[in-house]
Amino acid sequence: MAIPVIEIKKLTKIFETQKENVTALKNVDLTINKEEFVVLVGASGCGKTTLINTIAGFEKPTSGEVLLHGEPVTRIDPRCGMVFQQYALFDWKTVINNVDFGLKMKGMKFKERREIAQQYIDMVRLQGFENVYPAQLSGGMKQRVSLARALANNPEIMLLDEPFAALDAMTRQVLQEELIRIYRESQKTILFITHSIDEALLLSTRIAVMTSRPGSIKQFLDNDLPWPRDAAVQLLPRYLELKSAVWGTVQEEVMKTAGLLK
Ligand SMILES: Nc1ncnc2c1ncn2[C@@H]1O[C@H](COP(=O)(O)OP(=O)(O)OP(=O)(O)O)[C@@H](O)[C@H]1O
Ligand SMILES: [Mg+2]
Repeated sequence: MAIPVIEIKKLTKIFETQKENVTALKNVDLTINKEEFVVLVGASGCGKTTLINTIAGFEKPTSGEVLLHGEPVTRIDPRCGMVFQQYALFDWKTVINNVDFGLKMKGMKFKERREIAQQYIDMVRLQGFENVYPAQLSGGMKQRVSLARALANNPEIMLLDEPFAALDAMTRQVLQEELIRIYRESQKTILFITHSIDEALLLSTRIAVMTSRPGSIKQFLDNDLPWPRDAAVQLLPRYLELKSAVWGTVQEEVMKTAGLLK
């Protein structure tokens, strides 16, 4: 039976700035069940980051609510691991100190947390950069540190905001495969944002497409492509069916954002 982990009910978020009020989200309803891998796609500026930040407790709803395991989110929740679009590393800490920070906070002993941190640094292919500071890394490298930090904490819920956007194609494929492996081996519930429909189809169990701003959920469809997933799923007729369904909706909303459609 489906167990709801994240429940978003009539969520509206308005940013009040000196110049104007920006309605980023309007009446968003979305339920993500235990062990689902939901990928959220939508035009730039439609409110994806706002939505994920509100789930994680970094933003407060203007109205409506976000529940985690049935309880309203009132603070930054330690059950959620987050990879931010802007990496959000501790600039004054080295790579390995960034990655093992959460484990240190949990009180884990030095040797054990270093072993775990090293395992994820290896996984994101940053061996040799353990003692380097973020300022010395490229955008894609920072993104990988951020991913390693989130995974090292082994959270039950993972919120990933375009975690692979700054990566080259090869590294991106390797990390997609690693994330699929982690998802298949653990009982995690994942919400993942991307601009790539191919990435959405490769990773997800369900795909949510947002409208243009103010964002709400326009389409929520099951991704029934078979597991295990690798590049070969792209050859299946079902892949093209799903891709054109998602693409049609995204394109309509992107055109609205560009002012080409009403
Ligand atoms: N702190 C803020 N103050 C004012 N407006 C904001 C703030 N944060 C976001 N916005 C506005 O809210 C809207 C949604 O922004 P958000 O970052 O959630 O979009 P997004 O879907 O993540 O876009 P992208 O795909 O480009 O990352 C935008 O119009 C943005 O300008
Ligand atoms: Mg964003």
